[in-house]
Amino acid sequence: MVVLGLESSCDETSVGIVTDDRRILCNLVHTQLADHTPYGGVVPEIAARAHLEKLDGLIARALAETGLRFSDFDGIAATCGPGLIGGVMVGMMAGKTIAAVAGKPFLAVNHLEGHVLSPQLSHNIAFPYLVLLVSGGHTQILIAHDVGRYERLGTTLDDALGEAFDKSAKMMGLGYPGGPALEKLAAGCADPERARARFPLPQPMVGRKDCDFSFSGLKTAVRQACATLENKADPNLAFMFQESVCASLLDRAHVALSVFTRRYSTQKPTLALVGGVAANQYLRTALQKLDTEIVAPPLSLCSDNGAMIAWAGLARLKRGEHDGLDAPARPRWPLDAQAERKIGAGAKA
Ligand code: KG4
Ligand code: ZN
Repeated sequence: MVVLGLESSCDETSVGIVTDDRRILCNLVHTQLADHTPYGGVVPEIAARAHLEKLDGLIARALAETGLRFSDFDGIAATCGPGLIGGVMVGMMAGKTIAAVAGKPFLAVNHLEGHVLSPQLSHNIAFPYLVLLVSGGHTQILIAHDVGRYERLGTTLDDALGEAFDKSAKMMGLGYPGGPALEKLAAGCADPERARARFPLPQPMVGRKDCDFSFSGLKTAVRQACATLENKADPNLAFMFQESVCASLLDRAHVALSVFTRRYSTQKPTLALVGGVAANQYLRTALQKLDTEIVAPPLSLCSDNGAMIAWAGLARLKRGEHDGLDAPARPRWPLDAQAERKIGAGAKA
């Protein structure tokens, strides 16, 4: 089986092709970074127009590189949400058009499901497993029970982690996207003990019994620290920001692990780290402290990409599922429909 996947929900236009034996035949990504950098963040209207300009060319390249034709695919998958609706519409309509013209099944993919299933593409891990999803738009911890069956154990009550990285980086005078820039700055911290004494930042939610996240208090603490600094790009402050984030994530993951082991008393779960923030090496290393197997897909599958969308579509196709051409574009689309909507989290829940 071979499936084409289109991704256009945020600021990456991407086309991926995957097979059911876990081969990624191509995964082309056009990042719109240069279009949004002057504005310090993603501008939805610019994003939608840029997807429209680039998507056709990327699809043509994917076909040329793989030597495949539309008639060779078993299904056409496209992200139908959650995300910036203008961009989602572009990829979704392209996917539906190809499906209609080629007479192939269409798969309306939840972008978050793409992230959650990506560790099965890279590492072939079995259900059930735990997922820590940390991106610019979402921060959640979930149990992946099966394809289409996800249980949200915790979510952010305010900012997503990537957002907290980006906003804190901005306060430190770093460019957009802030995550990688902040990580680079933090690597220049020569004396962690001195940094701890100088910037004792809060470690959000540590000690709480639930699995939720919150980053707005940490962001405020960074703002207050920046106000005292002449040179705001301080490696010690950046280091402490990352240390606080890791302490918080480790604590939240601990609680989730104990929920999981209570549920499945014989198993220690694999914890998969996914989403754009999973590119952070400090975070990847810190999570190794957990007493369980940690899996992190390669960076090309962590940030937004078409291969993970094709893979999620393929997983549903294998179960005999597909969607009608009237499938809606959804700005908000929770993976766990039963999970309570958290006040303040908006679309990030
Ligand atoms: O998953 P993603 O590519 O797009 C969304 O679906 O949101 O995540 C983008 C986010 C941005 O906030 C970016 O700053 C963050 O991931 N990010 C990082 C790193 N690389 C990307 N955050 C921390 N450290 C990094 N190395
Ligand atoms: Zn994403």
